[in-house]
Amino acid sequence: MKPKKRHVLLLLLVCSGPTEAIEPISTSIAVGMAVALTGFLASYQNILNYFHECCRPEWISLNRTGLQRDLKTKLFGQHIASRIVLKAVSGFMANKNPKKPLVLSLHGWTGTGKNFVSQLIAENIYKKGMDSSFVHFFTAQHHFPNSNQIETYKSQLKRWIKGSVTNCARSMFIFDEMDKMHPGLIDSIKPFLDYYEKLDGVSYQKAIFIFLSNAGGESIIETALNFWRAGRDREEIELKDLETALSLSVFNNKKSGFWHTSLIDKHLVDFFVPFLPLEYRHVVQCVLAEMKAKNLKPKKSVAEQVARDLVYSPKSERAFAVKGCKTIGSKLDYYM
Ligand SMILES: *[C@@H]1O[C@H](CO)[C@@H](O)[C@H](O)[C@H]1NC(C)=O
Repeated sequence: MKPKKRHVLLLLLVCSGPTEAIEPISTSIAVGMAVALTGFLASYQNILNYFHECCRPEWISLNRTGLQRDLKTKLFGQHIASRIVLKAVSGFMANKNPKKPLVLSLHGWTGTGKNFVSQLIAENIYKKGMDSSFVHFFTAQHHFPNSNQIETYKSQLKRWIKGSVTNCARSMFIFDEMDKMHPGLIDSIKPFLDYYEKLDGVSYQKAIFIFLSNAGGESIIETALNFWRAGRDREEIELKDLETALSLSVFNNKKSGFWHTSLIDKHLVDFFVPFLPLEYRHVVQCVLAEMKAKNLKPKKSVAEQVARDLVYSPKSERAFAVKGCKTIGSKLDYYM
């Protein structure tokens, strides 16, 4: 019975204990409690796992080293994306009073690592990673499938975002398949991305919004292909080689939801992050990493076999894997 009571007591202290404004009289008591609590936690580290996740630095803080290492060792062929993401996220998280939420727009073809990067960001900010109750993932076809229910979706989404950020300022929202999202839906989240100090009494300035889409993917491939054909190292591709083409193509593509909105127009997106198409050698790296993740002994010959059997485009040159590293996981089971 006794241990159970302790858990409850600690839960209350950890979650709703004084954070910033501590009353002078209770300070010494709080400090005393904190000391006792720290001692307790230090000796019972594993009990920590019992606790409900809280909106506090113990649960939410960026591990910059971790993010840097993950981007370097787990993400392949994306020198531009890794650089931008690390800079954007660490700059934002270091800022105690950001003027607006961080808005990243990740662009590129299927399987190039957009989802994976948002997962790495979540894992290095939230102790519970994608399982954190402060990380929210939406995908157009799953969450907003019917275009005749847009009005319902709009109000649900707005309420969800408002409720989440009220509950925890450092919330993260990931929107997959942005190009399949109804323009009206994108419009409805626009106010949250802006420079408002408060919106209906809630500040969204510490939140992170990540948009994933294929929009602009083709023009990224075109640029990468030009480098490939010229025999230039892809690492020579710079953001400026892609930036204009990317934003214009996103803007002008009538099929993509962006076209209807003023996300770009109003400069609500802080960073456009291009993902390059993957070459054979990157796929090999993906397969080796997947083997490691599955606790299999990495075998180069098998990895090369898997990579060789994928579809590449353009057909004559076999420059880029059409589906990138997307289906590697399931393919591997077949080859092993
Ligand atoms: C941050 O990440 C590094 C590298 O993955 C890891 O060794 C370290 O323990 C992490 N630090 C914290 C505070 O989680």
